Amino acid sequence: MSNTVIIGTQWGDEGKGKIVDMLAEKSSAIVRFQGGNNAGHTLVVGGETCILHLIPSGILHPGKICLIGNGVVLDPEVFLKEIDALAAKGVDVSPERMMISKKAQIIMPYHRLLDNCRESLKSEDSKIGTTGRGIGPCYEDKASRIGIRAADLADPELLRSKIEEALIEKNALFENLFKAEPLDTEKVYQEILPIAERIKPFLADASSVIQECRKKGMILFEGAQGIHLDIDHGTYPFVTSSNTVAGNAAAGAGCGPRTLERIIGIVKAYTTRVGSGPFPTELFDANGEALQQAGHEFGATTGRKRRCGWLDLVVLRESARLCDLTEFALTKLDVLSGLDEISICTAYEYRGEKIDYPPQEQNGMAYCKPVYETMPGWKEDITEVKSFDELPQAARDYINRIEEISGVRVGIVSVGPDRAQTIVR
Ligand code: GDP
Ligand code: IMO
Ligand code: MG
Repeated sequence: MSNTVIIGTQWGDEGKGKIVDMLAEKSSAIVRFQGGNNAGHTLVVGGETCILHLIPSGILHPGKICLIGNGVVLDPEVFLKEIDALAAKGVDVSPERMMISKKAQIIMPYHRLLDNCRESLKSEDSKIGTTGRGIGPCYEDKASRIGIRAADLADPELLRSKIEEALIEKNALFENLFKAEPLDTEKVYQEILPIAERIKPFLADASSVIQECRKKGMILFEGAQGIHLDIDHGTYPFVTSSNTVAGNAAAGAGCGPRTLERIIGIVKAYTTRVGSGPFPTELFDANGEALQQAGHEFGATTGRKRRCGWLDLVVLRESARLCDLTEFALTKLDVLSGLDEISICTAYEYRGEKIDYPPQEQNGMAYCKPVYETMPGWKEDITEVKSFDELPQAARDYINRIEEISGVRVGIVSVGPDRAQTIVR
């Protein structure tokens, strides 16, 4: 099996967790390489649901190594809560198989506070609608070279001095700009000490663990968010603060780009988005409502209602171009059952021109009008379908059309949330 990268091709919540869980069985290690607990990845096994925010979605497979790479921003409290919840269910989360890169950045209470202060000061139309988990401010500190790294949790003196340094600027902002209470170095330090003590056993040289695991089998790289939330290539400024494209799997895990062999782009059979930002195919009618209801489109992290719309091939074409996708995994196809007609956006009208790729100007997508092609829907329930040939003709036509327009093969089709409801072509 080839080393495989799983990434979202849209604006997140495409069903990455489900596909990672499914492919984990054949892997030796599963690695998160960017993002943090802004992610919410849902696994359903035998009717039981498990939502993971930080821990790799391979954790339910006994014996597989699970790694949090250097590119991740890790909230240690959230990590420990997740560990405790899994342990209570009998899942092995021991440091023998669950490891954190010593180079991963740590989300501190002042990052969460700053995230929320920033959002509350913004005007309604400039709010990003972040998850409020401190993701952006933590990546800012990494780039400013004042971040706390996981290994620092094992060095109390360094930890204390780093908190002190970080709070000089932060407290000036809290007090003077945001009119919030400043944070006390000693209090922040004392609160993190017992957490740090519990994190210590999980610290590892992730890069060398990956090299070892490569000898035993395939490495599965688990992306978070989606390509159009990428800090460089997404709908800036309505994006997250990390690179979500496949290329970052190497940098964020600590291996070379030649390690990445198979790149699977996860595509929801329609489009959703949580938070603000342009969304050309968004529906404000009964069809949008139907997708939201049938797809249970509520955020797995914040519980917010997800905005819904038709599938956008302009977005997918760009995703294929940016990530060299070797195939698509198409999820939630079952949600489209029952519609009379299904629309696919094949191009945009932008400033009087027809375009095949998203415009590169800031917020250009907000001025794009989707050009649609309409296809007949199907009425059959497909949640028990086990092979591609058993799918209704209209569903097969829909898949074939996606392949034709994007030039990317659909290798996996998901027809329900459960691990078992998956067709491999
Ligand atoms: P992720 O962030 O990409 O891992 O996706 P989320 O877990 O946030 O959201 C995907 C949702 O769709 C979850 O509730 C999944 O259980 C569910 N899901 C995944 N695949 C399918 C599918 O094929 N059909 C249906 N009906 N639900 C699915
Ligand atoms: P998964 O991995 C969907 C969105 C937020 C907001 C923007 C920036 O489950 O697909 P942030 O907190 O990252 O600074 O918020 O990005 N966002 C996601 N939307 N799925 C996610 O993750 C997301 N992670 C962040 O809603 O619009
Ligand atoms: Mg999600």
